[in-house]
Amino acid sequence: MIALGIEGTAHTVGVGIVSDEAEVLANEILMYKPETGGIHPREAANHHAENVVPLVQKALATARLKGRDLGLIAFSQGPGLGPCLRTVATAARALSLTLNIPIIGVNHCIAHLEIGRGKTPARDPVLLYASGGNTQVIAFANGRYRIFGETLDIGIGNMLDKLGREMGLGYYAGPKIEKAAKEGRMLLDIPYSVKGMDMAFSGILTACLALKEKGESVEDICFSVQETCFAMLTEVTERAMAHVEKSEVLLGGGVVQNKRLQEMVARMAHDRGAEMYVPERTLCVDNGAMIAWTGLVMHRAGVRMRVEDTVVNQRFRTDEVEVTWR
Ligand code: FE2
Repeated sequence: MIALGIEGTAHTVGVGIVSDEAEVLANEILMYKPETGGIHPREAANHHAENVVPLVQKALATARLKGRDLGLIAFSQGPGLGPCLRTVATAARALSLTLNIPIIGVNHCIAHLEIGRGKTPARDPVLLYASGGNTQVIAFANGRYRIFGETLDIGIGNMLDKLGREMGLGYYAGPKIEKAAKEGRMLLDIPYSVKGMDMAFSGILTACLALKEKGESVEDICFSVQETCFAMLTEVTERAMAHVEKSEVLLGGGVVQNKRLQEMVARMAHDRGAEMYVPERTLCVDNGAMIAWTGLVMHRAGVRMRVEDTVVNQRFRTDEVEVTWR
């Protein structure tokens, strides 16, 4: 069976087509970029509405398929921004009804984990999922994907973006922060904010902005914020691995593109005798292929949804889903 998946939880609208051998036949991605400030949910939703149909056509053309070749439509049901979720859910329902094929709503966070299991040798990993809106450490235990640690306020990517914007580095500042951090020399005093197994990032943003105000250099602030926050992520991930006794760590989300973060997690994994896996970039960021693949895995395990079951859920928790496919 071939599935088409539509992603649209935040700034990215993506359409992926995947076979049941996890072969990615197409994976088209378009990102909404605000002219100023952060994401406006309504504007991002308008961007997705304008682009979702052309992206479906483009993905079908790339895969050299017709609508009638598809056996399943999957879409990101949550968590995410309400207007964006409703836009892609509407597109998915329309496709499912027109083509008369099943529809499955997929939890976005779980899709980051499943695509890693589908496309890397990881079989039972702890997922460190670090993106703009989400920061979670997830692992399978007792029939569900459980969250072992997460942010208590904003996602780490969101914090880095805001910091970058305030320091004049522009929007989606992650890569610029990474570059500036390489020139940093001083580890500045930034709060190390791990609380139990959870983390908090908004106070770190405030502390960094105060350091900027005091005249510290952008390079030193970027270096220090990376060292501090990535150590927090690595610590929580390591403790989750120890607690659930897993010997694989999988990375997912846009922030894990950062080489310094990869280096720190790789070092931790190596020291524990564990393996680290990072899917290729287009499967790490928000994308339709991970949604299509997760839909396929769920469908194969017998998951079925009526159109009434496809209502979106902005606060869709990772552990709400009963995992019947493992
Ligand atoms: Fe994501």
